[in-house]
Amino acid sequence: MKLPNITILDEKEKILRQKSKDVVFPLSKDDKKMIQDMIDYLTLSQIESEREKYDLRAGMGLSAVQIGVLKRIFVVVEEVEKEKFKNYILINPKIESYSEEMIYVGEGEGCLSINREVEGIVPRYARMTVSAYDMDGNKYEIRVREDISIAFQHEIDHLNGILFVDRIDPKHPFKDQDKMREI
Ligand code: NI
Repeated sequence: MKLPNITILDEKEKILRQKSKDVVFPLSKDDKKMIQDMIDYLTLSQIESEREKYDLRAGMGLSAVQIGVLKRIFVVVEEVEKEKFKNYILINPKIESYSEEMIYVGEGEGCLSINREVEGIVPRYARMTVSAYDMDGNKYEIRVREDISIAFQHEIDHLNGILFVDRIDPKHPFKDQDKMREI
């Protein structure tokens, strides 16, 4: 796998605050290539030797807007066992239902567009059902939980111009912590 030629935008770029637009099918060749590039980038970032070779930060999710494309597309790459990956591709995603239970990442969420330390917790649904379209334009539903549920919510936020830091109250970064479960 070659390192794809993509540049991940930093939070200071205003485009990250814009709402992405619904994708119209069929996907263009460029869209398909972009999706593959995003998956390859995340996969390489999760392989230690590649991460070091290319000086990458490890990431599990990426939205099109983070590489400057305002389309409602995101990918998540999950390492299911050592260097074996499961890819999620979501186009025009919609949260259909979600759990009452809330969770948060104890060590704090991360984002490839946020290159600084951020203290605080982000409340997320523990479980969700999300509908989306695949690359061929077929609609499907997926049920997710725990870290994948958080990753999906983080990426759906990106599609709406929201960064995880926006969900942290700077005055009370650990507000309501006792009402949620840490993962
Ligand atoms: Ni992010």
